[in-house]
Amino acid sequence: MEPIIQVRELSKRYQNVRAVDRVSFDIREGICFGLLGPNGAGKTTTIEMMEGILAPDSGQILFRGNPIDTRFKEKVGIQFQHTALPEFITVRETLQLFSAFYPDPRSMEEVIEICSLREIINRDNRKLSGGQRQRLLLALAIIPAPEVVFLDEPTTGLDPQARRNFWSLIERVKAEGTTVILTTHYMDEAQLLCDEVAIMDHGRILELDAPQRLLDRHFTGVLIRIPEPGERFITDPSQLPSGAEIRDGAVELTTARIDETVRRLLTMELNLDGLSIHKPNLEDLFLKLTGSSLRA
Ligand SMILES: Nc1ncnc2c1ncn2[C@@H]1O[C@H](COP(=O)(O)OP(=O)(O)O)[C@@H](O)[C@H]1O
Ligand SMILES: [Mg+2]
Repeated sequence: MEPIIQVRELSKRYQNVRAVDRVSFDIREGICFGLLGPNGAGKTTTIEMMEGILAPDSGQILFRGNPIDTRFKEKVGIQFQHTALPEFITVRETLQLFSAFYPDPRSMEEVIEICSLREIINRDNRKLSGGQRQRLLLALAIIPAPEVVFLDEPTTGLDPQARRNFWSLIERVKAEGTTVILTTHYMDEAQLLCDEVAIMDHGRILELDAPQRLLDRHFTGVLIRIPEPGERFITDPSQLPSGAEIRDGAVELTTARIDETVRRLLTMELNLDGLSIHKPNLEDLFLKLTGSSLRA
């Protein structure tokens, strides 16, 4: 099947910053695709070029095989990273206002249902919590029944409960057959929601695949981390089991044979305070790829 969106060698520069540097990827229809990366990675610049609101310096974006044009904008819904909502009107009035922009909007009832707006439908926009506001913004994005929705950091700044609520809305939108493209710097969000992720840093894509496939490719077994192993292991890592690496002053090793490895570590004079054993996640992968933490 032809991808719904193809991005080819996309680049954008600001003065001396290569915000997006020859980025290419395909997005299959109906999936949730994530651009994952820290602040300044180039996520917003990339997604805004894909939305057709920012002109690339070079490169191409194809929608169903054709360059994006004005008709493309009728087929997509956009939730910007920072959006002002009209003040002094209610959630219902906001939905009505935006519905009037489109020739064939989705029914209000459907939008209210998908985005769980019933309880706040008569509330003034100024009184919405962060999570409620994001739900309304998503509702505005899906009013035209778009084939693709773009969400730029939709859950940044939300509390954990509100983030989980928002994730279930995204699942609902996806279940309707809409292709979802989102940016995030939360690895747990990308891992949970995205069928495919592009890990970005400094305008480049470092890795691109399904989250679990990425992890399987880079890690075998579990990750053992010893945050303060003791000075002599840092200066002479050769004493450590093979495969162990020093990162941020900590010893890290992945192993498929947990008990054997742990037994081995216990015989050494390592300081095991704070030792952790966990299944590697995208945060660990980002650290491995870049040497720095995603949240830094
Ligand atoms: N309008 C702009 N003018 C100058 N530099 C910009 C502009 N927009 C983004 N940048 C720079 O481009 C890089 C990528 O930014 P952005 O795409 O916003 O990253 P992200 O969304 O991943 O945080 C950053 O270094 C940022 O400072
Ligand atoms: Mg951004």
